[in-house]
Amino acid sequence: MIVKKFVLSAFQQNTRVVACPDTGVAICIDPGAASDEIVEFIRSGGLTLQAVTLTHGHLDHVGGTSHLRDAFPDAEIIIHTDDEDLYHALPQQPLFMGIQPHQLASLGLKYDAPPAPTRNWEHGETYAVGSLRFEIRHCPGHTRGHVVFAEMNEKKVFVGDCLFEGSIGRTDLPGGSYEQLINSIEQNILSLDDDFVVFSGHGPETTVGRERLTNPFLTGAYAPGGGRFI
Ligand SMILES: [Fe+2]
Repeated sequence: MIVKKFVLSAFQQNTRVVACPDTGVAICIDPGAASDEIVEFIRSGGLTLQAVTLTHGHLDHVGGTSHLRDAFPDAEIIIHTDDEDLYHALPQQPLFMGIQPHQLASLGLKYDAPPAPTRNWEHGETYAVGSLRFEIRHCPGHTRGHVVFAEMNEKKVFVGDCLFEGSIGRTDLPGGSYEQLINSIEQNILSLDDDFVVFSGHGPETTVGRERLTNPFLTGAYAPGGGRFI
């Protein structure tokens, strides 16, 4: 599996181009901002962009969708149906987060309406990228329609904003639920083997085993509600 990371936007989000080395078929997981560097990477590598594959609809994960679609008009755009409203609300999302209208341009967060998705993820489906096979797992909690992509042969999982090294995704934005997120992580990520490499939407890579052992939100060290360690 070819994995190329681009750290984009004011949110330092990890956009990744993932490709099958046998066929050159590629996906872009969560294009966080318009980036000519990504377009150039795909073109110069002779890759075929099959789809923009979205883990969820937050602006720092979908902000570059229009730009990529303009460059590669045949690419699909795939998102879970429960995050479509969020996706279509891209131009308004910065305002939900408390960013003032006059700050949008300077922060690079001024968006037009994004292109329509071409289809939706189904929990449990197998998604082929050349000879790679991703299992799609619905993981609500950070957003209602968040999904993760697990490649079971290569033991790699792309988890968006569900799980980070030593932390978990925020649950205070619309559609968020702490209980749902912990449940999603336990059922759909911790159920993977310890040696799965975890690719998060922000920060460094980690492994399932490392997070199972040391992540305070998953070991029981952190008690929700009181906001303190016990
Ligand atoms: Fe997010």
